[in-house]
Amino acid sequence: MERKEQQIKSEHRVATFGEVLTARREVEAMLDLVKNEAERIDSRFLEPACGTGNFLTAILERKLKTLRARYRTKKADFEVQLLSAIGSIYGIDLLEDNVRESRERLFDLAVQGYKDSIHKAPDETFQQIIRLILSKNILQGDSLNGIDQIVFTQWTLVGYRFILEEYNFKSLNNNTPEPGQLFQSSLCDAQHKPVYIPQALKRYPPIHYRKLLEGNK
Ligand SMILES: C[S@@+](CC[C@H](N)C(=O)[O-])C[C@H]1O[C@@H](n2cnc3c(N)ncnc32)[C@H](O)[C@@H]1O
Repeated sequence: MERKEQQIKSEHRVATFGEVLTARREVEAMLDLVKNEAERIDSRFLEPACGTGNFLTAILERKLKTLRARYRTKKADFEVQLLSAIGSIYGIDLLEDNVRESRERLFDLAVQGYKDSIHKAPDETFQQIIRLILSKNILQGDSLNGIDQIVFTQWTLVGYRFILEEYNFKSLNNNTPEPGQLFQSSLCDAQHKPVYIPQALKRYPPIHYRKLLEGNK
């Protein structure tokens, strides 16, 4: 069933949280500005005030189109690339119900994308892996004043395995180096400024995509 588009949930929420959700047409127009990135399966996006997931779901839809075109024949390839797509999408919202709704919408979309390509529903373990990634990527928090309390997981695909690294959001945002850490003088950007390399809080050994639930329960 088509989801009814709703831009305002209540006057109270507009006044208190500035919650006015972006309409589909504007979301698509904005994503068109970064069309190639939005279609690329593993390009990373963060929505720091994600609401109910209007941008996040539109990004996943675009990535799913690429997936369907490229990975229809072999189930394992489709599955691992689908997880890579989901793992590349991040969101934060102050409100818990919005976080829940964003995760649910992304989950439903991922399952539908799976059915459209593989012609059957994903098994229970795979569904739980999708939920695990969403629980780590779509977070309840304050992206203005609480970034030191937000920890993101980076999912890097190597073959059929993922390398998981955890980063504090504050360290990803940091422009001021901390002693001995952040800037690598040997690497420069196009303006010849030293490149900032954030340090991971934790880095896990590569793990097969089907085993992601192990150690993450
Ligand atoms: C204008 S709505 C936009 C939602 C979504 N980006 C969209 O375009 O549909 C703003 C959202 O930001 C959230 N929000 C407000 N202040 C926030 C903060 N400091 N940290 C995280 N989320 C915040 C609200 O709960 C609300 O869901």
